[in-house]
Parts: sequence; structure tokens; C-alpha cells
Amino acid sequence: MLASQIVFTLFIIFFFKFIKTTLNYIGDFRRKKDLKHLPIVPFVGHKFHLTKKRTELYDYFLELSDGFKNEPFWCLWIGTIPIAIIHHCDIVDAFFTTSQHTKKSWQYNLVHPWLGSGLLISEGDKWYSRRRLLTKAYHFEILEKFNEIMNEHADLLIQKFEKLIKDKKKIEIFKESKLCTLDIICETAMGVNLESQKSTNLDYVWCVDKASKLLNDRFNAPWYWADFVYYKTEPGKEFKKCLDVLHNFTKDIILKRDAEFDDLNYESKGKFAFLDILLAAKRNDSDLTFQDIQDEVDTFMFEGHDTTASGLAWTVLLLAEYPTIQENLYREIEKELGNGNKQLTSNDLRKLKYLDCVIKESMRLYPPVPYIGRTITEDCVIGGHKFKKNDPVIIAVCSIHRDGRFFPHPEKFDPDRFLNESELNKHPYCYIPFSAGRRNCIGQKFAMMELKIILTSLVRNSKIKSSKKLNDVVKVAELTLHTIDDVYINLEPRF
Ligand code: HEM
Repeated sequence: MLASQIVFTLFIIFFFKFIKTTLNYIGDFRRKKDLKHLPIVPFVGHKFHLTKKRTELYDYFLELSDGFKNEPFWCLWIGTIPIAIIHHCDIVDAFFTTSQHTKKSWQYNLVHPWLGSGLLISEGDKWYSRRRLLTKAYHFEILEKFNEIMNEHADLLIQKFEKLIKDKKKIEIFKESKLCTLDIICETAMGVNLESQKSTNLDYVWCVDKASKLLNDRFNAPWYWADFVYYKTEPGKEFKKCLDVLHNFTKDIILKRDAEFDDLNYESKGKFAFLDILLAAKRNDSDLTFQDIQDEVDTFMFEGHDTTASGLAWTVLLLAEYPTIQENLYREIEKELGNGNKQLTSNDLRKLKYLDCVIKESMRLYPPVPYIGRTITEDCVIGGHKFKKNDPVIIAVCSIHRDGRFFPHPEKFDPDRFLNESELNKHPYCYIPFSAGRRNCIGQKFAMMELKIILTSLVRNSKIKSSKKLNDVVKVAELTLHTIDDVYINLEPRF
């Protein structure tokens, strides 16, 4: 009797849930009628289109976007959820010039167990006060102090490459880039040399990599989205184990630095890390908890290395594919800095105009963060379309960067197009690798400096070659833009 009552109750709950979902679906379908999309299967949406092309998804997405290029946006149905894809820079100002719609989309919830309510995910007053505090940590005077650390790790990278070549071993560019950028962000953010390039602290490094991969898999598998299902599965349990390692690692460092903070005056010793700003603020601001500090450290550790590694690896591959551009860059470095190997200063970097263009053009074609997810925070009209509160939106950075109105022959790798910056001022949002507006990337100057130091060190020491043509590299856009297979480079020493 009890069992039949439970079954009946469950049936009623599911029945009403089904009716509610169906009514919402019909309502959404009517509202989104004006947005172009591919033919859809009711309740399934475009899922078949997407799974069919899993390994080619990024190129497929670009192709679709190109097909709808006369529309300001188009619609992707994931099951019963319509996502408006914005691929014209003319209408993104609704997200960048106001304080509205700065809330991140629901996908970011899956990252929450790892990064907590750090700057990337938090919103409202909490985000605002934290952003003001942390902006200090990336002020250009502080960046000057990070210069030395970046140079040291760039040198280590070059030495490691030389050794790999001597030992006739292969250089997988995405992996090596990640280790280098991870060491840099760890030392600048927490004052600790992780030495992952020297293969110490491998547990932490391994778990960063594994957790990123598991997270990417979860994004693509709606049946894993509910926590109560995911954490019972093998990948969920593995993800949890990785998070324990990652959180314990950062927690130990924070506790140690916190205990020494009042005695060792790091600031006067010029060793003031990002973590110290948070620890100093904790002493003045009772609202800042240990968990808040840990969330920020975990956020910066992740955001600060994976994105930059992607930018670095794609630029290296482009230089390998275009030897003339590589030689132009080498000549600029030789002319402006001579061919010694002295530590690079910000003054040196300012002289390297062509390098700046190469990096910008690389991030135009291969934006490390190809999509930005947002949630509409109140009913509004954007680009003539009526949005409702909580509608999800994707800003397709990768498609915006291919708009032929601003970038003639958009598929061509042509750093010279950035020589005349006024050309690009045609529209403030036609080039947005670091996003724009209030929620733009807080680490963009840091990232550009890091990329310039590593690339200058690499190009002045060796000629870069790759074993694969870029057209044969399968791109995957998940947390960042990377490749599905390993991609190896060869280096020919210049001296
Ligand atoms: C080439 C390297 C980088 C690229 C292309 C990049 C790109 C971006 C983009 C597109 C966003 C907006 C994301 C969104 O709205 O979902 C963002 C946000 C952010 N980035 Fe970066 N980033 C890079 C390097 C860094 C570095 C080195 C750091 C730390 C030192 C960093 C820390 C952050 C943080 C904390 C946010 C969230 C900011 C906020 O919401 O207030 N990023 N980044």
C-alpha cells in the first residue's frame, strides 16, 4: 500500500514537472522564433548535431556562425534550453557598457566546487569589493616586481627544451607551456616556487590537469550535471579526490604564509605576492574569511595559467607555421635588444612592437577563451530581440574575431593588421580576447608581459618548427582553447 502511494506521488511530481517543462518550452520556442537556428528535434534540440561532431565541434561552431553571419545572433537549443549566440560586436555593448547582465551563465556552477566564490564566479557586492581590492595586486608597479620571476621561469623553459632536444625527446608544446605558466602564477600569487618544470610537486600539477579534463567532460555530459548523480560516478569521485589535493595544497601554503605574515615583512623585501594583499586585507577587514582567501587563490592559480598557456602554445605553433613572420620577429628582437641573453625589462618589452602584433593576431585567431557565458539579469531588448530574465547567452569571441568588416581575410594570420591600431578602433568590441567592460580580465597586463618574456626568450634562442600543420590540428574549445592530441615542436638552436 505504502509503495503504491510513493509511486503515485512520484508520478504526480514528474507529471507536473513534465507539464511545466513543456509549457516553458513552448513559451521559449515562441519567444525565440525570430532567432535563426538549424532544424531541431523537439525536446532534444541540437544535441545530435553537437555530439555527432564532438572532435570537430569548434570548427563546426565557426562554420555555423559563419552561415548565420548576416544575423546579429543565432540560437542553439541544448535540449529544451535555448542559448542565444551573439557573434556581432555591434550588440555586445549591452554586456560591456552597463553593469547589467554581468552574471555568469549556469555552466560556471560546475566550476564552483573547485574555485568557490572567487572573482571569476562571484557577483554583486561581493564581486565588486573583491575586484577593487585585487586590482591593486595587478597594478603595473607590482607587475614590475614579477618581471624577475617571469624571466627565471622563461630561462628554465629554454634550458628544459635544450635538454629535451639533446636527449632526443619530443617537446609537447601545450604541456610544457602549462608547466611554465603554472610555476609563474604560483610564485607570483603565493610566493612559492612550485618547480613543476623540474617535475617536483607532481601531485598538484597532475591534479590541476586531471580536474580540468574531468570538468570539460562534465560540461559535455548533461547526465552528469546534477551533483547527486555526478559524485556517485567514477569521474565524480576522481574529481573530488583531485579537489582535495588541490585545496589542501593551497590551504597549507595560505596557512604557512599567514602564520609568518606579521613577522616577515615581505613587502619591504620586495617579495610581496598577491596572497599578501589578501592577508593584509584580512587583518583590516573582518568580512574576509579564510575560505574567501582560498577561493581567490584557487581562482587565480587556475585562471592565471591555463589561459596564458593556451595563448603561448598557439602563438608558438603559428610562428612555426609562418617562418617569415618568425624571422621578422627575430630581426626585431635582435635590432632592439641585441643578441645577448640579459633579463628582459618592461622597457625592453615596450620596444618590441611587432611582438605585440604577433601575440594579438594569434589571440584573434585562437582566442584562449573562445566563448563567454552570461545570464540576462532583467527583461530587455537587445539587437531587436526580446530577452527574459535568466535567459542564457553566449558571447562567441571566436566568431566576433572573424568579422570580415573589421578583419579583411579573417582566416589569414597577418600580425601587420595590428600595426595600425586606429584601424581596429573602428569598433571597441571587435577584438576582445580578454573580454571587456566591468568583468574583463584582471590579469591581462600580467598575461601580456608573461607571453612577451617567454616568446622573446624562445625566438632569440631557437628557430621553431612544428611536426604538424595547423590545419591538421584538431581544436577543442572547453575551459580554454586547446588541442585534442599532443602537438610536438622541434627547435633548431640559433647559436
Ligand atoms: C592570455 C591570457 C588570458 C586570457 C586570454 C584571459 C581571458 C579572460 C577572459 C575572456 C575573461 C572573462 C571570462 C568570463 O567573463 O567568463 C577573464 C577573466 C578573468 N581572468 Fe583572465 N585571461 C588571461 C590571463 C589571466 C591571468 C594571467 C590571470 C591572473 C593573473 C587572469 C585572471 C582572471 C580573473 C580573476 C578573471 C575574472 C575577472 C572578473 O570577473 O572580475 N587571467 N580572463
